[in-house]
This record gives sequence, structure tokens and C-alpha cells, in this order.
Amino acid sequence: MIEKLFRKINPEDVRGNVFSMIGNDWMLITAGKRNHYNMMTASWGSAGVLWKKPVIFVFIRPQRYTYEFIEKQANFTVSFFNEEYRDLLNLCGTTSGRDLNKMNVEGLTAMETPSGAVAFEEAKLVMECRKIYYDDIEPDFFQIFDIEKVYPAEDYHRFYIGEILQMWEK
Ligand SMILES: Cc1cc2nc3c(=O)[nH]c(=O)nc-3n(C[C@H](O)[C@H](O)[C@H](O)COP(=O)(O)O)c2cc1C
Repeated sequence: MIEKLFRKINPEDVRGNVFSMIGNDWMLITAGKRNHYNMMTASWGSAGVLWKKPVIFVFIRPQRYTYEFIEKQANFTVSFFNEEYRDLLNLCGTTSGRDLNKMNVEGLTAMETPSGAVAFEEAKLVMECRKIYYDDIEPDFFQIFDIEKVYPAEDYHRFYIGEILQMWEK
């Protein structure tokens, strides 16, 4: 299915500026399987190269419902959308899957990726990722002290490094 709507590209050929794509346009992180998945909006992270692999770093606070899914699964996806999907990204970024079954969100059509992860037909760019590393933000290691203000509840992000297995765009 994904091959019908998207064409595979190399990470080097992605169009757009990754700072703006992540920080301004936002991304939708999806974890789980076709019959049980959850997604959340994220605007902190980065994409680049590590261990000779194309990678994306995503940062997820432990209280997110998505955290439960990404912890259990070997793969996850990151989807990027056009501006017309801003309201849906806002919804997925302000409502927890614990309160709303996001599998039923109107306007987002789930599709399975080759590794059995889930992404969305409406996306303009999809990255299918394999979790290759994670770690937790360690406050003792902050070198500037204003970062601590981001964590009044001490809910330090866990970050996951995903190897980008495949990337598709429309
Ligand atoms: C623009 C935007 C960016 C966000 N970025 C992150 C992020 O990088 N990491 C994170 O843990 N939460 C982030 N959030 C918050 C989650 O998306 C939000 O708590 C969401 O409801 C979690 O859903 P879940 O509980 O179903 O996983 C962001 C929210 C918005 C609106």
C-alpha cells in the first residue's frame, strides 16, 4: 500500500530543512501495530548520521501513552505533514491516547509499513525506524542550568535513536 502512495527516497535526498521540519512543522511519532497503536506530536529531536547509519532522535517523556508503545516495539515511524494537518497535529499533541482512542481520529488513515509499523496515508514524508538505542536525560549532566526549568516535574525525557530503515515521500 505504502508503495502506491509514496516513493522511496534516500535520506540524503529529503527536501526541506530538518530544523524547520521538526521544530516548526512538527512530526508525528507513531508506535504500535496496525490493530493497536498510538501517536503523538513532537517538535524536539534531530535527524542525522550516527554509527554510519541515517538516524532520527526522538524525545519522549515517560508519562506519554506513546512511551508505553515505543518501549514495547522494535520499530516506530515518524511522519511529516503539510500545513493543512496542523489541527490534527495539535490534537495529537494535546490529547493523550489514554483519553481518546487516536486510532479513530478522523482525517488520519493508518497504513502498515513493511516492518509492520504504522504510519499515515496523509503524510507527505514518512520515516520508518528501528530502535537502536535509548537513554534517559540525566539532570546531573546539564551544563547550563536553565535546561532544568523544562522539567519542573522531573519527568526527564527518554530519547530513542531510530535507524531510518526507509524513507518515503509523495
Ligand atoms: C508542538 C508540540 C510538540 C511536542 N513535542 C513533544 C516532544 O518532543 N516530546 C514529548 O514527550 N512530548 C511532546 N509534546 C507533547 C505530546 O505530544 C502530548 O503530551 C501528547 O498528548 C502525548 O500523547 P500520548 O499520551 O497519547 O502519547 C508536544 C506537543 C506539541 C503540541
